[in-house]
Amino acid sequence: MKKITSIIALVAMALSFGAEAQNEITVNADKPGSVINKHIYGHFAEHLGHCIYDGMYVGESNTKIPHINGVRKDVIEALKKLKIPNLRWPGGCFADTYHWKDGIGPKKQRPSIVNAWWGGVTEDNSFGTHDFLNLCKELGTEPYLAGNVGSGTVKELSDWVQYVNHNGVSPMADLRKTNGQEKAWGVKFWGVGNEAWGCGGNMRPEYYANIYRQYATFMTDWDNGSKLFRIASGANSKDYNWTEVLMRDIPHHMLEGIALHHYSVINWDKKGPAVGFTEAQYFKTMQEALFMDELIQKHTAIMDKYDPKKKVALVVDEWGGWYEVEPNTNPGFLFQQNTMRDAVLAGATLNIFHKHSERVRMANLAQIVNVLQSVVLTSGEKMLLTPTYHVMEMYNVHQDATNLPIEIKTNDYSFEDKKLPAVSASASKDKAGLVHISLTNIDIRNAQEISINLQGLTAKTVTGRVLTASSVQDHNTFDQPNKVTPTEFKGATLSGNVLKVKLPATSVVVLEVK
Ligand code: AHR
Repeated sequence: MKKITSIIALVAMALSFGAEAQNEITVNADKPGSVINKHIYGHFAEHLGHCIYDGMYVGESNTKIPHINGVRKDVIEALKKLKIPNLRWPGGCFADTYHWKDGIGPKKQRPSIVNAWWGGVTEDNSFGTHDFLNLCKELGTEPYLAGNVGSGTVKELSDWVQYVNHNGVSPMADLRKTNGQEKAWGVKFWGVGNEAWGCGGNMRPEYYANIYRQYATFMTDWDNGSKLFRIASGANSKDYNWTEVLMRDIPHHMLEGIALHHYSVINWDKKGPAVGFTEAQYFKTMQEALFMDELIQKHTAIMDKYDPKKKVALVVDEWGGWYEVEPNTNPGFLFQQNTMRDAVLAGATLNIFHKHSERVRMANLAQIVNVLQSVVLTSGEKMLLTPTYHVMEMYNVHQDATNLPIEIKTNDYSFEDKKLPAVSASASKDKAGLVHISLTNIDIRNAQEISINLQGLTAKTVTGRVLTASSVQDHNTFDQPNKVTPTEFKGATLSGNVLKVKLPATSVVVLEVK
């Protein structure tokens, strides 16, 4: 009898080890970390495909679509809910071809521009500086202007700064007033070129560092309280030497941020479809997304060497998933659908940014409407919110909250002989004392049971929202715009200071603990 009992006990033990109880998280609410700068929730609007023209911007005449100064009302309303802290414009590669003076003054008299990088289409410059800055005002977002270094001049960029920021009497302030804008907008964020190693001029880092010094010298802080935040064109993914040279060769009193671009792309020559991808392609996308952690660690280590006080911010001003364009669309327009793959990509990436919030103080998802990993897609009068939109909205509770350090032990998500951590997480405490915990499960087959230890926190209630779907391929369409939307999460229970959570396969959850 004794022997049978011990066999049963052994079997029970073996079964319990086999079950999914391996995920453990400790949220250290008693060890607050750095503030999660709201600017890591930034977006990016380039003159590319139907991001601006026939996307957000439908023009002031000849349209039945309700708009405010030519920008779709439905898009404005949707974007307001995201609480977008900053919006980058006009590029991207386009920025280094853009001459801002072509986009001011009476619209009918503006010269055209051929969008050489993106589809070779001719644009009429009807969406220019005033349109963009007024849109930002409407959205309650801070503009982030990307200056033309590749094909512009020092004077041109210097004049743009004066045009938008000088309140006194000056040639550019006077010109702005003639164009109907009395008061300067006070733009703080400025990109000094874009991808200077590539479409921004194919420069070497030493050369760009010199050029940066020259341009930045003539970007004046005008007397309107908006001290400029200048962002150097940063590294392409793991080009660590680029960061090294810029940090070494640019004096830090003229450098507020240094950029980093990293796209989760399977293979630049064979990107795979946005919908109908294989598990191998999904796995590779996740691998690339999670690689952001290593990238940030390594760029940060270089920055720490030259700037131990972390005065210069790492600005990930282009990130997201990049796939093949949708069939029968212009290959230069980068229009792609957005599935649950993109939702978990976004959740996992934001968790990484939170973890590195001391150095990563700004980021921009590429791009906001109809291009790459968009939050909004439009078609004629229709508009839809993508799964990525919902993640950005669910996560925005972390904006300007204090990051709470976490320890995490997670099961693997395995595919063939490869493995990735299935669960990623982050936590923060906001100014009202509310704790939010974000969890992402990239495993497309297995739910994850997680035990969360709330260290230093007396919790009474837990509520939450979940974004999930029956398939990782699920997405919203113009005919079925609400197939993937967040719902109330009922899979969390609190007992003392331990939270038990069951995360569905392929899901993003945000919990609020009081
Ligand atoms: O976001 C699309 C393009 O990707 C941008 O224009 C460029 O900066 C990057 O290569």
